[in-house]
Amino acid sequence: MKMSKLSLFALLTIGAYLIFKIVVPVIGRFLHPGTWPLIPTSLLKMYMLFVIVTILLYLTAKEEDAKALMAPIKATLTDPSKRMLRNIIFAVIPLLAAYITYGSVAPSYDAPVELRSIHPAPPSSVNVYNKSYNLLTLKNPLRDDAANFAKYVKEGGEVYFKQCFYCHGDKLDGKGHFYQGFNPQPLPFMGTDTIAQLSESFVFWRVATGGPGLPKEGAPWLSAMPIWEHFISEEEIWKVSMFIYDYSGNKPRTF
Ligand code: HEC
Repeated sequence: MKMSKLSLFALLTIGAYLIFKIVVPVIGRFLHPGTWPLIPTSLLKMYMLFVIVTILLYLTAKEEDAKALMAPIKATLTDPSKRMLRNIIFAVIPLLAAYITYGSVAPSYDAPVELRSIHPAPPSSVNVYNKSYNLLTLKNPLRDDAANFAKYVKEGGEVYFKQCFYCHGDKLDGKGHFYQGFNPQPLPFMGTDTIAQLSESFVFWRVATGGPGLPKEGAPWLSAMPIWEHFISEEEIWKVSMFIYDYSGNKPRTF
């Protein structure tokens, strides 16, 4: 059976959508193991608009093609034999519109974005670097090595100025080159509002698992903080933690 123009249109559109939604992330994951690069919804909408316009241009390039594309739609609207289908469609469309409108205006009981918790309660244990850590007992193994303290802080500073400063700022004030582009914005480490309130195991957890590691209760987060477990070693996390505490004049919170 020859496929109708309308089915072809639907098939191509759905195909393009699946490519953007599934194939692109799979290729991305293949190229950058450990990440899952999704196309943002706003971009996806834009791509789909271009795709639909292109498919329509292609399918209606010739007069008779355009007619063939419209034929089933016209038939549904006018054919006496399609009356039942027509009535169903005419009932479903307004209901769908009502449903979407309701969804966008109905009050929601979700906490507003501004009230999300900046320091959500950590899980009691995390799995990073293929190991499970109990966050209540986890300690920075390098901190007790007093003889090498200065060396670790210096090495942590090197990690910081390679990996972190362009978001968290070269003065650790949260105002790196890119900070204005993010919501939530990178946190400052100076002052007593952020890391001074945290135990070092909390910092370890936040750095190792990044924005995607934040629990649901902090949602919607969409934090840009990378999953550092994929990019730096465990030891580097402890060192950079020592650096940000030392530089900002803070001490990790203890129980
Ligand atoms: C792409 C930007 C970006 C980079 C690079 C980045 N961060 Fe972040 N970071 C953020 C954002 C945004 C937040 C705030 C939201 C959150 O907690 O996830 C954050 C939060 C944090 C927190 C939590 C602080 C708190 O008080 O809860 C720590 C600790 C942290 N970052 C450390 C680091 C370290 C160490 C590095 C370098 C290894 C780094 N960040 C690199 C964007 C970034």
